[in-house]
Amino acid sequence: MSESEVKKFTRKGLTERNTKTDAVFIIENIVYDVTKFLDDHPGGHEVLLNVAGKDASEDFDDVGHSTDAKEMMKKYIIGELVEEDKVPTKRKQYKWSETDSQSKDGSFLTSWKFPVVLGLVMTVLYSYLFG
Ligand code: HEM
Repeated sequence: MSESEVKKFTRKGLTERNTKTDAVFIIENIVYDVTKFLDDHPGGHEVLLNVAGKDASEDFDDVGHSTDAKEMMKKYIIGELVEEDKVPTKRKQYKWSETDSQSKDGSFLTSWKFPVVLGLVMTVLYSYLFG
């Protein structure tokens, strides 16, 4: 399939496609038709129908699907989102959350421990040198 033949969808146009006879969702800007897969999904048809018509990227990731599952997905691709509806890919989001968690937990240097330890060291040093 060449680039120009790829079918393009809008997020809006997919919202109604959430039934047992027409189940479509988006993962990482790619559009999947899983109507025929519903009964074969090891995680059950319920979860798939829950996200049908929507963006399932997060739910799909949360499960931590195997490489086998990711290989399997390719069979159900029917196209991709139009450029205007695309979101930055997972890699970018992942980096964001990395920086988020870092500023939350803090490393030794940025947490309260560093100034406290530094203060103790200076006190000891001061009394040793000038005491
Ligand atoms: C075309 C897309 C999908 C394919 C091909 C697929 C395939 C699979 C496969 C092969 C498994 C077995 C475990 C593994 O190999 O990782 C699985 C489990 C599962 N999947 Fe999916 N899946 C898809 C989409 C989704 C989505 C969108 C969700 C969530 C909304 C989901 C939720 C789950 C859950 C909850 C399990 C069960 C995990 C467990 O029992 O430990 N799947 N899927």
